Amino acid sequence: MKHQLRFAVFADLHHYPGVFHTQARERLQCILERARQASADCVISLGDFCHAPGRYPEIAEDFRAAGLPVFHALGNHDTDNGSLAEALETYKMPHQYYYIDLKGFRLIFIDSNYYRHAGGHTHFEFRNYFDFPETRETLPPEQISWLQDCIMSSPHPCIILGHASIEREGGRGIRNREQILKIFRRANAGKRRVIMALNGHYHRNNLRILENVAYFDVNSASFDWLNQPHRLFPESLCRQYEMVQHQVIYSEALSAIVSLSQQGDIQIEGSQAGFLHDVRREMTGNTVLDPAGRPCQAEILSAKLKLY
Ligand SMILES: [Fe+2]
Repeated sequence: MKHQLRFAVFADLHHYPGVFHTQARERLQCILERARQASADCVISLGDFCHAPGRYPEIAEDFRAAGLPVFHALGNHDTDNGSLAEALETYKMPHQYYYIDLKGFRLIFIDSNYYRHAGGHTHFEFRNYFDFPETRETLPPEQISWLQDCIMSSPHPCIILGHASIEREGGRGIRNREQILKIFRRANAGKRRVIMALNGHYHRNNLRILENVAYFDVNSASFDWLNQPHRLFPESLCRQYEMVQHQVIYSEALSAIVSLSQQGDIQIEGSQAGFLHDVRREMTGNTVLDPAGRPCQAEILSAKLKLY
């Protein structure tokens, strides 16, 4: 395959010193080194990069010092301890949703971090969405029409990048995903406009072809979250990190290198890891499958596809 665009992608790094044990700065350096080795055109974070970007700006600075272009999609936790404006400023994002054209492709970064309430849509800030589990992850109407215009006016094939999933039918996909799928369907009825969509958020590893669009559910770079805490880590670790008992932690940084051609080729080079202290989800009393039936795995898949 002769690729025209190659990007490195990762999700859910979760930099949160003293709370999560993610070794995020070291992990990020491994991801950036891999991206440079692969001669990637850019590196993409799919959200939940840091729980308090204003308090810990060093991680965003590390990312920008990668030596190649870097882009953020916002995750729900990026504004848990601060405002949207502060996250955008710290990450140097042009807007909460935006697009860039690169090497013959359009990369469209959507922002699914809104909840619907009292006839309007509110962006997540300071954990305001915690009280709205039923309507969180909804794209407001103005973003839906922006997305449609962005796709329909594109001279290039489009890749959609965001935190929450467009294809998941269980487990908190974007609530109005049907509206988005309709746009994709219409856009692809003539020429091929939307070829791939990538998301983070669920800390799972999956690839699904739906209506000839490749949906890549990108695993966390760092860990899986457990509702039920465990006591399997050493005491010293538990003293250092407030929430470590809610984690099973990947022993290596997980990321993927995605290469695309104008002829419909997609190649994903994934990653493999183990579990820190060999603590696996099945040992913790939590179910291994998530609500969409996807298992906890310390890996990101590799695949070669030809869409057209
Ligand atoms: Fe998330």
